[in-house]
Amino acid sequence: MSTRMNHLLGLEGVSREQIQTILDLGREFKAVGQRRIKKVPTLRGITVVLMFIEPSTRTRMSFEVAAKRLSAETLAFTASTSALSKGETLLDTAQNIMAMKPDVIVLRHAFSGSPHFLAKNVDAAVVNAGDGQHEHPTQALLDMFTMQDKKGRLDGLEVAIVGDIRHSRVALSNLWGLTTMGAKVRVAGPRTMLPVHLDRLGVKVFDRIEPAIEGADVVMMLRIQKERMGKDLFPSDREYARIFGLDSSKLRLAKPDAIVMHPGPMNRGVEITPEVADGSRSVILEQVENGVAVRMAVLYLLSAHLLEGA
Ligand code: CP
Repeated sequence: MSTRMNHLLGLEGVSREQIQTILDLGREFKAVGQRRIKKVPTLRGITVVLMFIEPSTRTRMSFEVAAKRLSAETLAFTASTSALSKGETLLDTAQNIMAMKPDVIVLRHAFSGSPHFLAKNVDAAVVNAGDGQHEHPTQALLDMFTMQDKKGRLDGLEVAIVGDIRHSRVALSNLWGLTTMGAKVRVAGPRTMLPVHLDRLGVKVFDRIEPAIEGADVVMMLRIQKERMGKDLFPSDREYARIFGLDSSKLRLAKPDAIVMHPGPMNRGVEITPEVADGSRSVILEQVENGVAVRMAVLYLLSAHLLEGA
């Protein structure tokens, strides 16, 4: 495949070869983060705008670290201190930012489709850092990187994704990515949090956690996205924790060497107990470390060609 990408808006339609190229490059960049001097000159002269119009800790910081490790310039844009708070539109904001000639815009936005809108209207590469309840492609890429790193493969891997599937952009990007890579995906959650027609994506759907995680290689727990629900879709946190929360006893149903993942932020004691989140099977902080490497790979593939002949 071409080692060049124009945008990264989602994993729907991204090929197995393209995903594997990003993961392989991420592995090379992970080594940079393990050196004493964690910086290479690869993207010197490239400008990356970090446009986060919805809260973020991991994604925003890891894109910033990724860009800086590649020697790119970063411009951080924070919605609350920008003219967006005076009513300026996303398009006007983006066009003004474009006048400063950035090469890459990383956008997180509460509205599904906003990165696609931006990509059509600006002359820069756009990365979707999470749009509403649609997609979060770099999260799924770092999740797949972590699974491949820990389990040596994605093809045939039994992956259970449990929780609020309906409102989760992490779940959707993982469903596209994992099925493309040949993993066998099961999902579980309350019926009110499961989208209809999931079976069309080739995943098995359960309304109980136990059969979903039985014999799984990977158990990925998701946060309940209360901010995206119009009303409560389950009786109480306590009842949710009892039925769908992952604790040590339920984890025994998975393979003895199964890994536990969570994209963060976690609701400890709701979808996952602290004992499991901090336990020996948890790779949650490795996911964060791998996020930097994968985002370095994405920034490289989007912008390195701009430096050719420069
Ligand atoms: N996983 C994730 O997207 O976390 P943040 O919201 O902190 O970026």
